Amino acid sequence: GTNRQDSVNNANSPLKLFTHAKTTITEIFKNIAVYVGDANKFLDDVNKSERNLLTNEKYKEIQQLKEKVNRILSIISRDHMKVVFFGRTSNGKSTTMNAMLRERILPVGMGHTTNCFLQIEGTDKAEPYVLTPGSDEPKSVSSLGNVGSALSREKLDSDSLVKILWPKEKCRLIRDDVVLVDSPGIDVSANLDQWIEQHCLDADVFVLVISAEATITVAEKKFLHNVAQRLSNPNIFILMNRWDATANEPEMVDSVRQQHLDRGLEFLCDELHICDRQEASEHRMFFISAREALLKRNKDPTSSPRTGFNEGHEERFAEFNNFEHEFEKCISKTAVQTKFEQHTNRGKEIISILRDTTSNIANRSQTLKQEAVQKLTDMDEQHNKLERELRSMTETAKDKIRHVSEDVYKRVAQTLND
Ligand code: GTP
Ligand code: MG
Repeated sequence: GTNRQDSVNNANSPLKLFTHAKTTITEIFKNIAVYVGDANKFLDDVNKSERNLLTNEKYKEIQQLKEKVNRILSIISRDHMKVVFFGRTSNGKSTTMNAMLRERILPVGMGHTTNCFLQIEGTDKAEPYVLTPGSDEPKSVSSLGNVGSALSREKLDSDSLVKILWPKEKCRLIRDDVVLVDSPGIDVSANLDQWIEQHCLDADVFVLVISAEATITVAEKKFLHNVAQRLSNPNIFILMNRWDATANEPEMVDSVRQQHLDRGLEFLCDELHICDRQEASEHRMFFISAREALLKRNKDPTSSPRTGFNEGHEERFAEFNNFEHEFEKCISKTAVQTKFEQHTNRGKEIISILRDTTSNIANRSQTLKQEAVQKLTDMDEQHNKLERELRSMTETAKDKIRHVSEDVYKRVAQTLND
């Protein structure tokens, strides 16, 4: 029912793995900032005492830590999860994204529609706006039909990036720090390498949208081969879209599905070697109808109530939900691993520099006042606490990943039962 859907989509979303990790690591680094501040004050005094307990170099290094910590905090605040959608023209990339966003944000249509890269990301402002390359001036989203669409006269290069700043409060995916990138059809672009270089190197997940009425093409394969060369073990999902077309040919469904599965698995597993066949067939390939999913979630005021849903739409919609859940699990896990492992290590580095310095001073100074000794003990405690927090941060991430994957089996089973 709707309630379960809502709860799956909100508090229990696997994306929380990422957002919790981000909150936790921010807290930890704020504490590190306080610790660094204290250490700096203490070392100021030590430095003034002219007892040669501290080299000038070391003193400078520690002073600079403050800025370093602030820089890391600002990087963390901008950390996000990024997904790129790609595939041949008109396969339904933009429609799929709109369905996930639950709103008709991106222009969709017949023929060649999306004209350049469109990146959707969050803003705290109440109204959405658009930023085009080379200009800081916010434009209205109604201009999207012009700047983002190939049908318009105002042409941008296919590899330029238009940003759509969408109010976080309007959309859960965006609120949870997912950035979605739409691309022009892969068959209409000349320079795939440049695309990858400019827009894909920091992507956590790639979603290939294929038309189930056709099949995976050479251009799409080539793109992913290039991606796999540049990024080790990319996360790739394959969506067989327009699966609603099978309603017209029910006797063919099983054999067509098998054909798509065979080819998709052969590509993902035997050519790219990114996962085994079981994993790929259960977690990486989905047979969906983006059009129906969007229609269910965001009624089109211009269409009559009877249009849109073909025989079997419930199963396709369930499969769309499964895809989203697997996608959320995958993207948050990858983003936590790639982004926060680095932060955690830098945090450990910083506090060990401080510890070494302070304990060095303590060792060399027999005549420090009791007060200073107390200060050192306090800082030592602070240090141990931070180290514990950083360690448990890594453990919690692992625990959550385990918990989430157990949970998803239950939900998929439940959905299939329904
Ligand atoms: P470009 O931007 O041109 O690269 O295309 P795109 O991949 O973004 O495709 P888009 O989402 O614009 O969809 C193209 C057309 O296909 C639109 O008219 C959609 O309504 C239609 N469409 C998308 N998904 C489906 C689907 O699952 N089933 C059916 N029947 N039509 C679909
Ligand atoms: Mg498009």
